[in-house]
Amino acid sequence: MTTTDAVPAACADTRSGRTMTTIDFHPTVFADIDVYRPQDDSWLLCRAIDESGVVPGARILDMCTGTGIIAIHAAQLGARRVDAFDIAPAAVACARDNAESTGTTVQVRSGSFDEARVHGPYDVVLCNPPYVPSDSLPSGLGMTRAWDAGPEGRHVLDVLCATAPVLLDDGGTLLLVQSEFADPAKTLRMLCDNGFDAAEVLEHTIGYGPVMTSRAAWLEETCKANKGQRTERLVVIRADKR
Ligand SMILES: C[S@@+](CC[C@H](N)C(=O)[O-])C[C@H]1O[C@@H](n2cnc3c(N)ncnc32)[C@H](O)[C@@H]1O
Repeated sequence: MTTTDAVPAACADTRSGRTMTTIDFHPTVFADIDVYRPQDDSWLLCRAIDESGVVPGARILDMCTGTGIIAIHAAQLGARRVDAFDIAPAAVACARDNAESTGTTVQVRSGSFDEARVHGPYDVVLCNPPYVPSDSLPSGLGMTRAWDAGPEGRHVLDVLCATAPVLLDDGGTLLLVQSEFADPAKTLRMLCDNGFDAAEVLEHTIGYGPVMTSRAAWLEETCKANKGQRTERLVVIRADKR
């Protein structure tokens, strides 16, 4: 996705014997070797959450939870209730372990948007979805599912924008993070068309990590990136349901 090159030395977690890596800033949260290790996009979303002030006392949905880092962050900020969903069994197990090890109350469930809407509506939806353009549609439940998002990078983003109105209660807030390569303007358009006031609230430009570097030529050939481009702008979009 972005900077998976910064993976620290793996360490054995004594709770389960699985190979995991520790996570900067959250020393009691672990990433299993086959679960997305929180990085720039995760931290940018955490920053937006802090700055928004919408989490304390709210009913939260963290969609695409991975290690559970966003859900745990929300719980630690004083959310009233936190539900977290992921389609990858490894992520669900990892997030459950992390919720327990951090002493936070997070209901981690296996599933996606259809399952989440059964438990809604929520006051706040948080999401760091897969958004890296890939030459084919994502498949399987392995690690690449954390970033591969189809030719336009919008495989999950489009569903999120279409489903947001039913996931959120009136007056609720969506905070999502995505790359410039997955058409943030389309996200804003879809959300506005679906009854939200939406805007970019944070951005951060980073260098390509291994995934983006391996796709650099294809991104240029398909005119998604400029010739020689090796940086990626990440944005957080906030959408408030009217
Ligand atoms: C970029 S990672 C984000 C992990 C974590 N939220 C973070 O910020 O570090 C995306 C996660 O979405 C999950 N995922 C992919 N497609 C999904 C879908 N349709 N519904 C739910 N989870 C999905 C992947 O398994 C992966 O764990």
